[in-house]
Amino acid sequence: MESREFPMTDANFTHIKNVAYDRTGIVLGDHKREMVYSRLARRCRALGVNDFDQYIHILESQEGEELSHFVNSITTNLTSFFREKHHFDFLTETVFPDVFKANAATRKVRIWSAGCSTGEEPYSLAITLANFLKLNSHKYKDWDVKILATDLDSNVLDKGKRGAYLVSGADGLSDSDRKEYFTESDQEDGHHLLAKEKIRNLITFNRLNLLHKWPMKGKFDVIFCRNVVIYFDKDTQKVLFDRYANQLKDAGYLMIGHSENLHRVSTRFSALGNTRYKKIN
Ligand SMILES: C[S@@+](CC[C@H](N)C(=O)[O-])C[C@H]1O[C@@H](n2cnc3c(N)ncnc32)[C@H](O)[C@@H]1O
Repeated sequence: MESREFPMTDANFTHIKNVAYDRTGIVLGDHKREMVYSRLARRCRALGVNDFDQYIHILESQEGEELSHFVNSITTNLTSFFREKHHFDFLTETVFPDVFKANAATRKVRIWSAGCSTGEEPYSLAITLANFLKLNSHKYKDWDVKILATDLDSNVLDKGKRGAYLVSGADGLSDSDRKEYFTESDQEDGHHLLAKEKIRNLITFNRLNLLHKWPMKGKFDVIFCRNVVIYFDKDTQKVLFDRYANQLKDAGYLMIGHSENLHRVSTRFSALGNTRYKKIN
């Protein structure tokens, strides 16, 4: 038994690993043990328990309640504005011209940021879209364009909905986008950028576990699922990318994270290079 604030046995860690995998698809390898300990120690403190036996008892007995705190604690939410900027350049140069042309009959465009974390990704999508629409306003006025932003973690979604970001963490934003799409305000915890209505209105934030049933009926033109499946095993990835292919329109686009690839995961996309894909079947 360890002599630390909240003793965590091997059996406790295995139990936690299993709950994480079953509920979120996230694989917690042994090298994640310290990280898991420090994140869940906060929950132990908040609940006033003495060790992980007691914590697991609460996790199992008051499922709904502690489970969402548990899930929020084990997710990794690192993100930033215009992360992997080449994806956004690709949208402007290739994807949007292609999609807007193809959708002339419906005048509708749908984009999904799956695993959107605190919202920097969907706001970057909204800015890219708004800039494209501004440049092409003569052609695409009054189109129905929407971005769906989903995540499993309710805390990060709340932050995305608020649309308030510390200036110090908003390096990826250009000065012109910052002026055009954000107002600035001093708050207790620092100087913030607040997303303006014109980008907020393009985004709907919803909680969604990617492992569960998806309620969306319509198909998407573009799906971003970046830096999410690195935490999943190959079997989970296979199922997920098959479902993304089903949820994309024919020849729809998929962007994944810089350390991810679809090799031996899915044959339903063709690789366009640089973690960009197009649905082929
Ligand atoms: C590292 S962030 C990536 C954020 C953003 N896509 C980016 O690339 O900057 C991974 C996100 O995936 C979410 N996530 C993990 N498992 C999930 C699941 N089963 N369903 C939905 N979201 C999940 C986490 O909550 C986290 O916010």
